[in-house]
Amino acid sequence: MDFDTPKDRRGTDCSKWDLMEPAFGVPTDEGLAMWIADMDFAPAPFLQNAVQGLLERGDYGYFCGLERYTQAIQWWMRTRHGWDVDTDAMFTTYGLGNGIAITLNALTSPGDEVITFTPVYHEFAIKIGKTGRVVKELPLVQDAGGLYRMDFDHYETLLSGRERLVMLCSPHNPAGRVWTREELRALAAFCEKHDLLLISDEIHMDLTYGGQTHLPMPVAAPEITDRLVMTTSASKTFNIAGARTGTISVLGETLREKFRAFFRGLDMQPNLFGVRLTEAAYTPEGAAWVDQLTAYLEGNYRLFEAGVNAIPGLKLMPMQGTYLSWVDFSGTGMERAEFSARVAERAKIAATPGHTLGTGGETFLRFNLGTQRAQVEAAVSRLQDAFSDLQ
Ligand SMILES: Cc1ncc(COP(=O)(O)O)c(C=O)c1O
Repeated sequence: MDFDTPKDRRGTDCSKWDLMEPAFGVPTDEGLAMWIADMDFAPAPFLQNAVQGLLERGDYGYFCGLERYTQAIQWWMRTRHGWDVDTDAMFTTYGLGNGIAITLNALTSPGDEVITFTPVYHEFAIKIGKTGRVVKELPLVQDAGGLYRMDFDHYETLLSGRERLVMLCSPHNPAGRVWTREELRALAAFCEKHDLLLISDEIHMDLTYGGQTHLPMPVAAPEITDRLVMTTSASKTFNIAGARTGTISVLGETLREKFRAFFRGLDMQPNLFGVRLTEAAYTPEGAAWVDQLTAYLEGNYRLFEAGVNAIPGLKLMPMQGTYLSWVDFSGTGMERAEFSARVAERAKIAATPGHTLGTGGETFLRFNLGTQRAQVEAAVSRLQDAFSDLQ
């Protein structure tokens, strides 16, 4: 698979490229889009074949055969992640943002507090707010090696007693922390102790490298199955977010019935393109493609890490997975407005502002490395120029 071939997505109504000018003032023609979490690679051939098949048959009507789709998901989870999930536990939603909002509505009440470990994917807080629930931020801490860790002793002192649910991002967005079995088990014990439900958002589950293995929450802590909701999708791994298709798996019978009662009233059905793309992705061919993708992403990360860390005052958090790198600018001593302006105006790079990911993100920017190596090289040299007075 050739991940190096440039793919110009400008002018195609691609959010990542066509919205960077209105969002950051980064010019569309000269800028580098490194914010929204999707990748710039050509779609894998097996995805193109799936769409081609639909096109050739020319039939976009009502469809059946959904067992093949849920069985493909089941096969992927079992073979890639060692997780046996019952197809009866699966509900298809309009992407995972939608799935998270549905889960909050189904299983919690307005005013309930929902825990997030910040900084974290900004849409968690947005969904919690939109559904009338209240964000309870529990800050991650950095260990001596610079990795994010949860600090349960500290969290015990922060609880109000109104918390009802925890939202975990695993692997973590930003920075791609791959949580260990011990960490996942400690979180499970915390949920049991405080009688909390848990959404484990594992959308980035396939994108690990450097010898890291992602562990699904129900594999790490099967004893909390009754309070666990899993959210997964082929969308990040295969870059098919536009298909707006995700899976919510509610494993415990009692929780599933509660979820189902709410979900039934929404009368949602999967769409043909999302189903066919997911089926095509969750195959042995898809697995081989992902192995090559993650090796390539690791190469991008190593290159970016070396280039960014050579700039005095900038520090890239060690990555264990994902393509969402996390750069700390605190060592520059600059205000957020200044380092952000240098990145947007001098380097002409659109990066995600860290403060939008919650407490602890203020001095960071998130750079998406899911792009051609040449773009990552260009980003490094632009950043080195933009901060060259610090050399
Ligand atoms: C952790 C996490 N969950 C959910 C989503 C969004 O999923 P979807 O596009 O299916 O709504 C993202 C997108 O970046 C994400 O990083």
